[in-house]
Order: sequence, then C-alpha cells, then structure tokens
Amino acid sequence: MDDIDEMEKSYLVSISSASSLDDLEKIRVKGLGKKGEVTSLMKSIGSMEETERRVRAPKLNFLKSRIIKEIEKKKTLITEENINERISKEWLDVSRPSRPSKMGKIHPISQVTDEVVEIFSDLGFSIAEGPQVESDWYNFDALNIPPEHPARQEFDTFYVNSSSDSESPPHVLRTHTSPVQIRHMEKKGGVPCRIIVPGKVFRSDYDQTHTPMFNQLEGLAIDKDLTMSHLKWTLEEFCRAFFEIGDIELRFRSSHFPFTEPSAEVDIRCSWEDNMLKLGQGDSWLEILGSGMVHPKVLKACNVDPNCYQGFAFGMGIDRLAMLKYGIPDLRSFFEGDVRWLEHYGFNPLEKPSIHSGLT
Ligand code: DAH
Repeated sequence: MDDIDEMEKSYLVSISSASSLDDLEKIRVKGLGKKGEVTSLMKSIGSMEETERRVRAPKLNFLKSRIIKEIEKKKTLITEENINERISKEWLDVSRPSRPSKMGKIHPISQVTDEVVEIFSDLGFSIAEGPQVESDWYNFDALNIPPEHPARQEFDTFYVNSSSDSESPPHVLRTHTSPVQIRHMEKKGGVPCRIIVPGKVFRSDYDQTHTPMFNQLEGLAIDKDLTMSHLKWTLEEFCRAFFEIGDIELRFRSSHFPFTEPSAEVDIRCSWEDNMLKLGQGDSWLEILGSGMVHPKVLKACNVDPNCYQGFAFGMGIDRLAMLKYGIPDLRSFFEGDVRWLEHYGFNPLEKPSIHSGLT
C-alpha cells in the first residue's frame, strides 16, 4: 500500500465519521483546497519521472474524484438527517387548545356611540365632523349667540390663548357639537342634509354629572319641507331603538336655545322605584336632549335661504345616554381609565349588541 492508498483510506474514514456539513468542508479544504494535501501531490506530477507519473497521476486523479464523490454523498446524508431532526423537534400539535389570552373590553362610550350611529344611519343620517378647537364665530356667533348674549355665560367656556397683538376674539375649546352644523351647511352642497355629529366637547365643570370633557351627539336635518313632526318622529324612533322599549313615551317641553325656534327639551317617561330608574313607565320625566327647528338666522349665517330651506336640530349627551341605558352612576368614572371599572362596565368585543345582531 503506497502513500496514496493510505491517504485514500484516511480520507474515507474521516468523511464517513464527519457529523456536520462544517466538518465535511474542513476535510475538503484539507485535501482539495489550494494548499490541500491532494492538491500539493498533484502539483508535483509535473516534475515526476515519466514512469512514476504514469502510475501516480491516474491514482491521484482517482483519489481526487473519489474524495469529491464521497463528500457529496455524505453531504446528502447529513442534510437529510438534519431535516429529519428538525421535523421531529419542531413537531406541532395543532389540536392543542390555545393559551388563554386576556381580551380587552369595549368602553361604554364607544359602545353607545356605535349604537347611536347605527340607529341614525338606518334613518338615513351620515356622520359629519369638525375641529375641537373652534373659533368664536362657529361656536357662538353663527349659532345666533352674539357676544352680549346671556347664553355665552351659561357655557363654562375654555378659552385658548391668542397672541397679544391679535385683535380677533380668542379661540375656544368647542362647548358643544353645534358648530359642526354651521361648518356643514356652509359647504358647497351642504344642504339639503341629514347629519349626525358625535364628538368631544369641553366645559369648565366638575361633579358627579359633569366633567370638563364629555361627548355629545348633534343631529341636523335640512330640506325644503321639514316640520316639527319630522323631528318628533325621528327622536321617538331613535329612543325606541336605543332604549329597546317599544312603547316609549316622550314629552316635548317648550324651551329656549338661541339656535332654534321653536325649541324643545325632550323628556322620557320614567319611574324611580327603590332608587332604581325604570324607563318607559311611571309618573316622572327625565330630560334627555335639546332640540328645535333651526333658527332662520343660523341658516342665513351659512348662506342658506330660510325662505327655501328649513329643518330641525337636536343635541344630546352620549355619556348621559350610556349612564341611563347601562345604569352607570358617576360620569367621572368614564374618564378615570380604571381597568377594574372597564372590566365591570365594558362590553365583550365578540358579543357586541347591534341592530344587526338583534338590538332593536
Ligand atoms: N348645543 C346644545 C348644548 O350643548 C344642545 C342642543 C340643543 C343642540 C338644541 C341642538 C339643539 O342642536 O337644537 O346644550
């Protein structure tokens, strides 16, 4: 056995005992790399005697191709083994139940907003929006509340600082969603319309039933032949669907708002038994919203001709609706961000009642 045979034997042994692709690569480099053992021997062929070359050259060529072939074979084997090992390790039991995961709750205000939007959408109203920082004009003047009007004092308005050299009245945090009526009507093609405006409003007030920020829903319908009876029907239809009481009774009580004429506050028939509020029956009345026929001056402020168009508007507190419908006693708790409260009063996202899932 000569040195080439020895070499072949030792390479075959190390190839067959290699356990990784890395090992195989090292063996290849050791034998067939640029400075490898077999490569060096092959380089010496040129300087060999003719007779020696005749014997050694084919043997070396054979050795080289044998090593290559064996390495390839082993490579395939190791790769297969690796795959099989991964398959057995990464086995996944798809029948196992999933880990319990904690599900969040829908905040009652989101829930009630969704419900209200759904009901009015069914009645043909679409949603409009406006900014929360408003100019004096949209929040007051255009709604027929000029600077000297006493209603300005009724709103505990938050004013936004304006620069010292500014002569225009300061901006305000909108005190109601009514300014969106103006923004909508003054747009090109703003009337006729049927819109609702859910949104945040701000007033400087804080107790069990008042918070500096709360949510309102504004409604506005303008057309050529709308009357108070359309307003009544719309609000009755809404209350019936929202409170899920078929024979709900509303009382339209004459009132005053600068932006409507005539104006009415709407009460819902109810009773108090053992401190529990029951809607739909009883001898008491609970105020739930303000409404009226849009004042001609408001239409004029939006460049809408009051001789051609008229309509109705209403405004209600979304948080108050949520308190009434779901028996939540303190308004402040809505905004305290207490998860335990949300766990209790919140709604399961997968069991959300809606008109389509049976809320009517
Ligand atoms: N903007 C009134 C408020 O915040 C609510 C209101 C009353 C809105 C009558 C209306 C309305 O659109 O017609 O107190």
